[in-house]
Amino acid sequence: MDLRHCVIPAAGLGTRFLPATKAVPKELLPVLDRPVIQWAVEEAVAAGATDIVLVLAEGKEAIANHLLPDPPLERLLEERGKRRELEAVRHAGHLANVTVVYQAEPNGLGDAVLCAADVVGERPFMCMLPDDLSVGAKPALTQLWEAHERHGRGPIIALMRVPREDISRYGCADVDLTEGRDHHVRGLVEKPKPADAKSDLAVMGRYVLTPDVFDALRATPPGALGEVQLTDGIARLIGSRDIWGVEFEGRLLDVGTPAGWLQTNLQLASDDGEFSPAVHAAPVREAV
Ligand code: UTP
Repeated sequence: MDLRHCVIPAAGLGTRFLPATKAVPKELLPVLDRPVIQWAVEEAVAAGATDIVLVLAEGKEAIANHLLPDPPLERLLEERGKRRELEAVRHAGHLANVTVVYQAEPNGLGDAVLCAADVVGERPFMCMLPDDLSVGAKPALTQLWEAHERHGRGPIIALMRVPREDISRYGCADVDLTEGRDHHVRGLVEKPKPADAKSDLAVMGRYVLTPDVFDALRATPPGALGEVQLTDGIARLIGSRDIWGVEFEGRLLDVGTPAGWLQTNLQLASDDGEFSPAVHAAPVREAV
């Protein structure tokens, strides 16, 4: 099988989820029975990723540990006859090859992606932000990779229509040609004011990128919030190559804030055979 990298930036501070994220990275908070990072890697693997490049900050190594084999734990579970748990632990530890790179300072998403340049090399690669889980018949990253193959193996960004007043929270795409759910991108602006926004198409955290984005990022000065923005780096490629955006089908569920995380757990649990009874009848122990 072809080597296919997926870069997962996870070096951020998780300030919106404090104090839960004081000692535990938000990527390790559980959604149903597994941590956020596992949901992300499972989506990447379903889209054909063989190699995960985790961008971490020092001290967040436990995120990588979750994705590595753990022979002593596996031995113990085997000795105790805990087959189901053993399978779950083995599954998490063998999803893909994992390489860790470090971002020295949280200088922005563009800077985080640039940290993966040496590992990724000269091939197109996927990139995903683990803050949102993709649910639906076909994961968002899979839809993006298909678009990448449809559009001459160029860069693809995930787009979603949002209410105009919300566009200033996202990157915004200016498009000049539409084919079904695919839009040819002629401009990208990070966090525009609603009055200045060229569309209601927001850039979401799933990408297929080409290696020329690394030189573009090296040339990108800090932008919105004083950080090097990935959107600004991708925007620098416009003119030298075609960039397409895909209005993907399905939903993204936020797990980067306490309220989003809670809603995501409730929604996924209601649709899940094992967990739905717990949503409706929590086993509360009450003293009488
Ligand atoms: P966010 O800004 O949503 O996440 O970045 P954050 O910074 O961790 O959280 P808040 O905003 O403080 O609550 C989106 C993704 O980009 C990564 C984050 O880890 C997250 O997965 N990121 C962001 C980096 O890896 N490095 C950065 O400098 C910034």
